[in-house]
Amino acid sequence: MPSKPTTMKHNASVDIKVDKAPSSRIDSVDFENLKFGSIFSDHMMECDYKNGAWAPPVIRPYGKIELEPSAKVFHYGQAVFEGMKAFKDDNDQIWLFRPDENFRRINLSSKRLAIPEIPEEYFFTGLEELLKLDKAWIKKGFGNSLYIRPFVIATEAGVLATPGSEYKFMIICSPAKSYYTGEVRVQISEKFSRAADGGVGAAKAAGNYGAQFYPTNLAKEAGFQQIIWTDASTHDFLEEAGTMNVFFRINDTLVTAPTSDRILDGVTRKSILTLAEANGIEAEVRRVTVKEILEAAKNGTLKEIFGAGTAAVINPIQGFGYKGEKFELPEITDSYAAFFKDKLMKIQYNLAEDEFGWRYLVKE
Ligand SMILES: Cc1ncc(COP(=O)(O)O)c(C=O)c1O
Repeated sequence: MPSKPTTMKHNASVDIKVDKAPSSRIDSVDFENLKFGSIFSDHMMECDYKNGAWAPPVIRPYGKIELEPSAKVFHYGQAVFEGMKAFKDDNDQIWLFRPDENFRRINLSSKRLAIPEIPEEYFFTGLEELLKLDKAWIKKGFGNSLYIRPFVIATEAGVLATPGSEYKFMIICSPAKSYYTGEVRVQISEKFSRAADGGVGAAKAAGNYGAQFYPTNLAKEAGFQQIIWTDASTHDFLEEAGTMNVFFRINDTLVTAPTSDRILDGVTRKSILTLAEANGIEAEVRRVTVKEILEAAKNGTLKEIFGAGTAAVINPIQGFGYKGEKFELPEITDSYAAFFKDKLMKIQYNLAEDEFGWRYLVKE
């Protein structure tokens, strides 16, 4: 079985202050019945920005933080985040999947929101120390993982509408089981938009998610679980879902929208495109019209729709609705969704060759 560590360039020497929890909460957790993102591991990482510089990371027991009610994050939404996972293999080694991409993206998101960028060594050393400390929270077994949530918020007190001069970068971790959402049917958006040209759609900015809750509630009332967002100006082009990029399979060709300043550059999406090429699956990155998907659904050439993102890896979509009409997708035996999910997960869990150097060993 392959276990070649691929990347280790981030184990830079940064002095991290660690305040260990006096006891672990792990024995009180029912790992068989985890609700996604609701329980957090024993420790968290914290890094403060003040007087124009980031201070080295500090690790302390997971717990409350104190902020002034006037802290800018509450008023102007200067908040960005990331979503990643840690996996444990049969030999108790901890692995991350393409963490450089998350590091790059959190700083791109930060830049767009006028938040100072995080130094690479603080991100990686802080994260790795935290994972080593809370290693017991990463359970072995295909589908088990520790969901990692890095985020940055503006903490400076004061309601003047300008970027803050003080920030907090934190990492918290939540144990997760294989993410199964049940059957997913999506509504194609006709009126509401997630992002616009020149806006913050490509950033993992907190406000992008808050703004989706109301239209998503309406979609739920209409019998759907999620929305596929369309472009803000014409609503003719399919873009992405709430927390996933979206792929369509027409006949045997995979089609997905290009990333832009409206669409998140997903790590899962780009990995699927690489795997498609390596496995002889034709993939087109181009604008996808609502019209062609409706036609393909009607003439039987639309074989699959699936979402791609860190939480679920791949989320098959069983049907969709548009302008009051509902469409169901056929049952399929040679599913691309299942193929890519298996390929990706085997790389993540160190069960397959890491052909592209995506796996990252957390060195102990
Ligand atoms: C809006 C949006 N699109 C796509 C994705 C998928 O990105 P990734 O594969 O990097 O998790 C996410 C989740 O991070 C997201 O929030």
